Amino acid sequence: MKVLLTGGTGYIGAHVAVELLESGYHVVIADDYSNSHPEVAGDIEKITGKTPTVYNLDVCDRQGLGRLFDTERPDAVIHLAGFKAVGESVREPLKYYMNNLGSTLSLLDSMQKHSCGKLVFSSSATVYGASDSLPYTESMEPGASSSPYGSTKQMIEKIIVDMAESGLISSVILRYFNPVGAHESGLIGELPQGAPNNLMPYIMQVAVRKLPELSIFGNDYPTKDGTGIRDYIHIVDLARGHVSALIHCMKNDGVNVFNLGTGRGHSVLELIEMYQRVNEVNIPYNIVPRRAGDLPVTYADVSKSKRLMGWSAKLTLEDMCRTAHQFMLRNLGQK
Ligand code: WQD
Repeated sequence: MKVLLTGGTGYIGAHVAVELLESGYHVVIADDYSNSHPEVAGDIEKITGKTPTVYNLDVCDRQGLGRLFDTERPDAVIHLAGFKAVGESVREPLKYYMNNLGSTLSLLDSMQKHSCGKLVFSSSATVYGASDSLPYTESMEPGASSSPYGSTKQMIEKIIVDMAESGLISSVILRYFNPVGAHESGLIGELPQGAPNNLMPYIMQVAVRKLPELSIFGNDYPTKDGTGIRDYIHIVDLARGHVSALIHCMKNDGVNVFNLGTGRGHSVLELIEMYQRVNEVNIPYNIVPRRAGDLPVTYADVSKSKRLMGWSAKLTLEDMCRTAHQFMLRNLGQK
C-alpha cells in the first residue's frame, strides 16, 4: 500500500516515515524543506534500509501536487505539512492561514480528483480551549483557540468533517500533545531552524552549550512546583500512533478523533531534573515572567486510542531525555 506523507522530512514526519517503511508501506514524501533538511531522506534510508520517494514540493502548489498524484496514485495520505510555531502565528497570522489552510485545500482537491479517500491529519492539543476541563477528551468541543496556529487546526478539522459528511473522504484526526525525544539511532531528531520555541529543543541546546541558559516562563502557576505541566510523548510512540491511525482509517468510514499523549503530565522543573540526571549534564536556568497564552496544565485522556486503535504510549520520560541528548551529541555542528 502506498502512503503520501506531506511534511515527511520534518521532525515528526521523518519518524512517521521510518515507522511506515518498517511496517511495509511504500512511502512518498512531499516536503518543501521550509522547516527541515533534504539529507533527512538519507537518514530515513540508513535507519530502515528502504528508500522513500521524495518530492521537493510545496503542498500549496496545486499543479505540482496534481502531477504527483497522477504519477504516484497514493492509497492514503498522512498530512503533517504545516507551520506550527504558536508565537510566530500571533505575529504573522496570514502566513499561517495561507500555508496551513492553503496546503490542506490543495491536498483535498487532489485527493478528490484522484479518488484517494483516506486521510490521517496531524492536529494539535491546542484545539482544546482554556475552559475545557482536564484531562482533555476527544468528545470536548474545541474551545476558543489561543492562537492563529490553533485556529488553523480547528478550521482544518471542520473542513475534514464536512468533506467526510459528503462521503468524499474518511479520516482520522490526531490531536498531539507535546512530542519530544528522538529515534534510538540518533540519526533523526528535533533540530529546529533558528532559536527553539519549545521547551525540549531549548533544553537540548543548553545541554550542549549551543545556548547559555534556559528561561523558565513563570514559576507562579497553581502547580506542585509552580511551573507549567504538559503531557510529553516520545516521538517514536507518536509515530507508531500514526501507523495505528492509518490502519484504523483504512477500515473505517467517517471521521474519528484521537488524542496522542501519555495521559500524565510533567512540570518544566521535572523535565529539567530528569534531563540532567539521565544525561549527567547541567541545565542552567533563570525564572522569567509567564509567556502569553500559556496554560498552567494540559494533558490528555488517552483511553479512546487504547480502546479503539489498541495504541498506547510505551516509552518513558527517561527515554525521551536520553534519546534527545543522544541525538544532539551525534549531530553537534552538523546541518
Ligand atoms: C512547554 C512548557 C512553557 C519554552 C506547543 C504548542 C503545541 C504543540 C507543542 C504543535 C510550557 C515552558 C517553554 C521555554 C519554558 N505544537 N517553556 N521555556 O506551549 O505546551 O505546546 O508545542 O502542535 O501546539 O502550543 O510547548 O514546549 O513551548 O512549552 O519555560 O523556553 O515549557 O511555559 O509550560 P507548549 P512548549
